[in-house]
This record gives sequence, structure tokens and C-alpha cells, in this order.
Amino acid sequence: MRVAVFGASGYTGGELLRILVSHPAFTVTVITSREYAGKPVYMAHPHLKGLLSLKFVKLEEALNREFDYALLALPHGISKDVIPSLLEKGIGVVDLGADFRLKDPSLYETWYGWKHPNPELLEEAVYGLPELHRDEIRDARLVASPGCNATATILASAPLVKLGARKVLADVKVGSSEAGSKPSRGTHHPERSGAIRPYSASGHRHQVEASQELSLLVGEEVRVSMVPHSVGSVRGAFASAHAELEVDEGELWRAFARFYSNEPFVRVMQRGSYPNVKNVLGSNFADVGFASDPSLPRASGFAAIDNLMKGAAGQAIQSLNLMAGLEETTGLMYPPLSPA
Ligand SMILES: NC(=O)c1ccc[n+]([C@@H]2O[C@H](COP(=O)([O-])OP(=O)(O)OC[C@H]3O[C@@H](n4cnc5c(N)ncnc54)[C@H](OP(=O)(O)O)[C@@H]3O)[C@@H](O)[C@H]2O)c1
Repeated sequence: MRVAVFGASGYTGGELLRILVSHPAFTVTVITSREYAGKPVYMAHPHLKGLLSLKFVKLEEALNREFDYALLALPHGISKDVIPSLLEKGIGVVDLGADFRLKDPSLYETWYGWKHPNPELLEEAVYGLPELHRDEIRDARLVASPGCNATATILASAPLVKLGARKVLADVKVGSSEAGSKPSRGTHHPERSGAIRPYSASGHRHQVEASQELSLLVGEEVRVSMVPHSVGSVRGAFASAHAELEVDEGELWRAFARFYSNEPFVRVMQRGSYPNVKNVLGSNFADVGFASDPSLPRASGFAAIDNLMKGAAGQAIQSLNLMAGLEETTGLMYPPLSPA
């Protein structure tokens, strides 16, 4: 099956290509970039030299090519104008950006500052977290792949919500690749290296999608407040999700083990040992763990992911596999790097 990667010169685009070069069922036939148009893939991704002999084209040119699936790794606000024409041609789409993640169109005005031009597609789009929406993804034309902070938060919180939590405080630590490949004053290396600091501390956009999905999970409103923190590492996102809940660790262990019992990419830690991003880097795995403190009382869920893999490209291919009728793990079941 032929796949086009839009925004292929960026970080998540590069990860999509890294996975797809050895995927047994998909062949990348079109890659886009404005800056690298006309240049070979290794100019943007030297690590892929010798593995993929394609040249980048401009987005407009890619729209005239033929392919079966499109993966969009474009900045927020671009894919909403591209996706309708792809769908009209019968192309299956996985969007890694935020343009189709939220169900309520008015939230785009509040949180992204623009009016959504295709509210009817918001209804149709499936939130691309297979752990919550596996069957819908199989039948979807359009999958809206989650944000990395949201993925970690939801995976850390879902069992707590199942146990009754309706307010979740999520503290997320995330590496610098989360900000994409174009450096800004706050995101380029001298600013990020060695840093540990909060950002968007009073209302991060990803808390809206996490609230939406956790509410859908239990059919009741679940409120999520998220504080992401920049840390100096390149990859990795770690969510600690806290709720005021009186449960002992045995009960928490059972809740996590039950919720993730059939999940190929979620590994539940044993009681008393906690996830670490170092154990998932380079892979599509999410390691989850838990703790309880009776003194508040507090119950906590933890999730460690590679933001570019389970938080972006790996998860997008997991959804693409499902859409294409393949085994969900196809081309994705390789171990994390160690040491990383
Ligand atoms: N980084 C993460 O950890 C992560 C995790 C989950 C989701 N996401 C989402 O994935 C998407 C891509 O993120 P990223 O980190 O890969 O960003 P990135 O490194 O900045 O890459 C963006 C890509 O889009 C292209 N692009 C930028 N502006 C464009 C425009 N106006 N028209 C057409 N193409 C344009 C860029 O190439 P040219 O500028 O050369 O055209 C580049 O190929 C974003 O929506 C992001 O929120 C990222």
C-alpha cells in the first residue's frame, strides 16, 4: 500500500519514515517539505541515508500524486485545509496534529484561536488512541492521532478514572523534540539543555483532549488539569497523574492490570517499581505504573513514552495498521534502545 507523508522533513515525519522503511505492508511514495523540496530524503534525515531514495516535493504537488494513505505531520492549523480533499479522493488519513482531535468545534476558537472550517469532520474523526478506540479506528477514514502529553496523561489516568476519579492533576515532563525541528527562543538547544521548567502551566491545550477522552471513557465529566514541564533530554514524555482517591496499591494494581490486559504496547509495572522513559526510548511501548498514599488520600498513575513514537509516529502507524486491516503491531514490535 502506498503512503504519503506530509511534513516529512520534521521530527515526527522523520520517525514515520524510519518506521515505514522496514514496514512489510506500506511503501512510502511521496514526502513533502517546502524547505527541502527537490532534495533527497537524507538532506533532512541523514540517518536514513541508503534506506529510502525519494525526493521531497511541495505539498501542492503531493496532492496531485496517487497513494492509498496519507500521514500528516504538519503544524497545527495546516491539515484542516488539506484533509477534506484527500478524503474526497478516498484516501485514508492519519493526522498527527490537533486539527481533528476535539469533538466540540467551539473549543478550537477557545484553545487554538481559529474557527473550524469542517465541523462535520470532527464528528467523524476518530481519536487515534487504540487503547480507547481500537474498533472505531479499524473503520475510520480519518484518525486524529493524540498529542504526546495527552497520550501519556490518558494512559496514566484511565484506570484511575475507571476507579472513580473525576478530577485529575497531571504533571508531565517532556523532552525538547516535542517542540518540533524549528528552533524558537524558548526551544533551541542552549535554552532547553539542562532545563526543568513548567510551560503553559495554567491551561495546556492537551488537557482539553485528555478531558474529552477520559469523560467519554466513563460517560461522565472528567476534568483534567495539566502542567507540562520542559526537561533537557531530547526524547521522552512522562506523566504523573494524581487524583484524590482512597484505594490501596493492590486495588490499583488490579485496575491497571485489568485495563491494559490485552494491550500489545502497554506494559504494566509491578507494585513498587515505576516506569522510566529510558526503558521505552525508540519504541512504541508505554510503560505504566501506580502508587497510592492514604494520607491525603491520593492515587497516582504514571506513564512513560517516547514522545516521537507512542506519542506520535509509532502510535500513528499503530492506527494506520488497524485502518488497513493489518495486525496492529505490524512493523512496530521492536524493543526500545538500551542504554539510551
Ligand atoms: N514532536 C512531537 O513530540 C509531537 C508529538 C505528537 C504530535 N506532534 C504533532 O505532529 C505535528 C508535527 O510535529 P513535528 O514535531 O514533527 O514538527 P516539525 O519538526 O516542525 O515538522 C513540521 C513539518 O511540517 C512542514 N511544514 C511546516 N509548516 C508548513 C506549512 N505551512 N505548509 C506545509 N508544510 C509545513 C515542515 O517542513 P517545511 O517547513 O520544510 O515545509 C516539516 O516537515 C504537529 O502538529 C505536532 O503538534 C508532535
